[in-house]
Amino acid sequence: EHAGSIIGYAGALHHDREAHILNLAVRADARRRGIGTALLYALIVGLQALGVHAVTLEVRERNAGAIELYESAGLHGVGHRPGYYAETGEDALVMWSGDFEDPGTAARLQVLSAKAAGALAEYGPDRPTGTGGPLVLGIETSCDETAAAVMEGGRTLLSSVIASQVDFHARFGGVVPEIASRKHTEAIVPVVDEAMRQAGEALGRTVGFSDLDAIAVTCGPGLVGALVVGLAYAKGLSLASGVPLVGVNHLEGHIFAAKLDDPAVEPPLVALVVSGGHTSLVHVPEWGAYRTLGATLDDAAGEAFDKVAKVLGLGYPGGPAISRLAQDGNPAAIDFPRAMLHSGDYHFSLSGLKTAVINHIRREREAGRRIDPPDLAASFQAAVIDVQVAKAVRAATECGVKTFVLAGGVAANRVLRDAIKGALKTVGVRVSVPGFALCTDNAAMIAAAGTFRYLRGECLSIDADAVPDLRLDSIASP
Ligand code: KG4
Ligand code: ZN
Repeated sequence: EHAGSIIGYAGALHHDREAHILNLAVRADARRRGIGTALLYALIVGLQALGVHAVTLEVRERNAGAIELYESAGLHGVGHRPGYYAETGEDALVMWSGDFEDPGTAARLQVLSAKAAGALAEYGPDRPTGTGGPLVLGIETSCDETAAAVMEGGRTLLSSVIASQVDFHARFGGVVPEIASRKHTEAIVPVVDEAMRQAGEALGRTVGFSDLDAIAVTCGPGLVGALVVGLAYAKGLSLASGVPLVGVNHLEGHIFAAKLDDPAVEPPLVALVVSGGHTSLVHVPEWGAYRTLGATLDDAAGEAFDKVAKVLGLGYPGGPAISRLAQDGNPAAIDFPRAMLHSGDYHFSLSGLKTAVINHIRREREAGRRIDPPDLAASFQAAVIDVQVAKAVRAATECGVKTFVLAGGVAANRVLRDAIKGALKTVGVRVSVPGFALCTDNAAMIAAAGTFRYLRGECLSIDADAVPDLRLDSIASP
């Protein structure tokens, strides 16, 4: 009934890492249909894609409906501005989204993004549904996130649900495999059901398991007890519904996340996958063909951040805490080792750096000097990044590619992103980094990679096992 007319708008002022939401309005005759919610969610997701880290706004303190709407988007009150609204003298409540780099906020953003897609399907100019193509459910349980997502045609994300267990592991300072398996077992059914329900909402019809064209599941690498939960559940669904099963390599998923956010990403490319479990440089001559150029010989990059954060008493996960601390520090304050910088290959070694940090702290304490946590964090971060940047540049140049993908949880690190982008730009290589929510573990990337494998006619046998050390190269074909 409103075809062709403007029924609402939303706007924000974006400066550097922060954005301020200025306006959100829906025409009176179009209210109460979730249009305001859709606009707000889409605005936040759009701002995040622009590199914004946090969102603020002011709202009339007596406008309970609006406050509730903003709270549903993850904002919370952080202050008051008395008499802010000059005409009426009303007070304003200042609301803040929290830092998008925090794992909890990142997970919430991904839910918002799926919801915005669903609601805009109904009202927005770009209907994300009805594009056709296979309907694929993705399931991811390789580490400490239980995630499910439904995707249509390998491009349109209909839903993406993530249950993070990070709070349960935080008190142990790292992921406890036994806890991960148990939490996956608890979460897998409601997470998959919610992803299916949201997909139905987006399509405007009920979506049952038998409506799917494929079920894609991470079968490695990862924690074996965690992988088994997702794989066994996917097998059960496949047997019960007759829908074929497709196996996905978790690292391939991380690389596909870049294409999800930036459809122009095409091989030949080189990808650096940096997460809590991986640090790998991969040459991708074409989709589905992978040649690992090098990887870490000991700790993964995220693991190094987590371990150093633990030493500094910053809690788990350590990446976001260290990078925040590093903002106020001098990266040249302490000259930490750049391991393997001149090794002439594409391997990394990070455990020595962690030891160097511990030794530095001990030496300073013994000498009666106070350590400066921001300087330490910035210097540590610089040591990690310098090596990654140097190897990224060499890999892209030697492989002769014009596209580089930075993926995995550590890609959420702004300084790393900027350093890689800057260095590769000087050699004419375009860098694509998925948005924060697609950098960390999620099932949308598994559904995307799964759709590709399904369309190639691949199918996972019902007696396939989880492979904790699954290699990317081993699935390279044809
Ligand atoms: O990809 P991911 O969610 O899970 C794995 O597959 O491991 O990555 C999580 C890792 C953690 O080690 C976390 O500390 C790190 O990514 N991380 C960061 C940042 N945000 C998350 N590391 C450095 N800087 C960050 N801003
Ligand atoms: Zn991962």
